[in-house]
Amino acid sequence: MPAFELTVNGHAVRVDADPDTPLLDVLRNHLGLVGTKFGCGLEQCGCCMVLIDGAPVKSCGKALSTVAGKRIVTIEGLGTPEKPHPLQQAFLDEQAGQCGYCLPGILVTAKALLDKNPAPSRREIALALDDNICRCGSHIRILRAVERAAAAMTEARS
Ligand code: FES
Ligand code: FES
Repeated sequence: MPAFELTVNGHAVRVDADPDTPLLDVLRNHLGLVGTKFGCGLEQCGCCMVLIDGAPVKSCGKALSTVAGKRIVTIEGLGTPEKPHPLQQAFLDEQAGQCGYCLPGILVTAKALLDKNPAPSRREIALALDDNICRCGSHIRILRAVERAAAAMTEARS
C-alpha cells in the first residue's frame, strides 16, 4: 500500500491507504477525525466540506492521492471547547443549528469566506454557503451567526 503525507490541522501525517480512498474516509477512518460528516457521498450536500490549502472542498469526492502534500483543515482544527473559534462561539450564541449535522461543513466554509472577506454582506455569505445544505432549515440563524462572527472578529482586530 503506498504512503501519502499530508498536513492535517497543523500536524504532518502519513497515511497508508489505497490512492483512491476518499479524503473523507481517510479523515474519519484512518485519522479518527469524525467531526467531518458523511451525507450524500456524491458531492451534493456539503457536510463533508474541509479546507484544502484554505479553500472549501467536498472531501467525499477527493481521492487521497490528490491531496498529498496539501494542508487540510477540518472542524477539529478550528477551535476547542475551551477556546472556540469566533465562528463556533457565534453559532452557539445564535443557536444556529438543530441537529448540527451540516455544521462542520458550514463552519469550515464560513471560515474560508471570512479569511478572504472579513466583512461579507448577507448575500456574499449566502453565496459562499450555496453548496452547503441544511436539512433542518436553519439558514437564517446560520447567516446571522456568520455575520455575528465577522463583527466579533473585526472588533477583536481593532
Ligand atoms: S457527503 Fe460529500 S457532499 Fe455530501
Ligand atoms: S442543523 Fe440539521 S442539517 Fe443543518
